[in-house]
Amino acid sequence: MATAPVQDYLEQLHAELAQVSGGTIADYIPELTRADPNWLGIAIATADGHIYQVGDSRQPFTVQSISKAIAYGLALSDQGLDAVLAKVGVEPSGEAFNSISLEPDTGRPMNPMINAGAIATTALVRDDRAPPLERLLATFAGYTGHAMDIDTAVFESERETGHRNRAIAHLLRGYGILESSPEAATDLYFQQCAIRVTARDLALMGACLANGGVNPVTGVVALKRRYVDKVLAVMSTCGMYDYSGGWIFNVGMPAKSGVGGGIMAVLPGQFGLGVFSPPLDAKGNSVRGIEACERISRDFGLHLF
Ligand code: DON
Repeated sequence: MATAPVQDYLEQLHAELAQVSGGTIADYIPELTRADPNWLGIAIATADGHIYQVGDSRQPFTVQSISKAIAYGLALSDQGLDAVLAKVGVEPSGEAFNSISLEPDTGRPMNPMINAGAIATTALVRDDRAPPLERLLATFAGYTGHAMDIDTAVFESERETGHRNRAIAHLLRGYGILESSPEAATDLYFQQCAIRVTARDLALMGACLANGGVNPVTGVVALKRRYVDKVLAVMSTCGMYDYSGGWIFNVGMPAKSGVGGGIMAVLPGQFGLGVFSPPLDAKGNSVRGIEACERISRDFGLHLF
């Protein structure tokens, strides 16, 4: 991608996407309804550390399910591949993000990108160095290059209403996939989902994954190189839930979405892309976020295949 025209391209894209309507803001976590449906931020961070951004690229919002990719990488680092695979599979479920989607005999969630798999994954984030929430925040900071915090109002809102996730966690405990308190697992998961990011942060997080796990601006290792391909693989097959097939067909890049309205996409070796627009389609993916990624992929011929 040539550098100078990228900013002009993004300005034009932003202006066009601002006209795209449709979608609804997630309301099953009541606090998310405070988002402005017109917010639209797009950022690209290249694997050599250049950042381009337009619109509301510095507007904070909660990372929600995009955190699942980051937590999966951290769980792999903490526990190793075999231990994580024993608890969480890598098959696309083809089902909604909040489906139960457990293997019938073992109770193993189908993959780490759906809620069931993410709750099991987050519970695997542990080592002796620090409490898991601190480690999650420190890991996010490695990806973004700055200290991270939690939107406590969104966290508490989800904790008060997240009965379905709590039920899934209890099922996981019943199967022995979770080995300790389901309440502690969902609390940690809800906190992880409420970490505040911006579209610019998402672009940098994607750039770390595009750059072999190394933050291209700070040089910090955000994720050990040997796990980068695993994280990108599950993003490719499962990152957009029951639109994952259509996504990889149309856009051709590993990606992860969240109900806060964010999408993080990665072109390995090249760049990370962060888009933020709160209105979602029926599958929980940002309407304008998908449109932005489709156009960028098409306009620059970036489809991986
Ligand atoms: O568990 C939940 O329902 C939310 N904390 C996250 C779901 C989510 O972001 C799905 N993404 N599109």
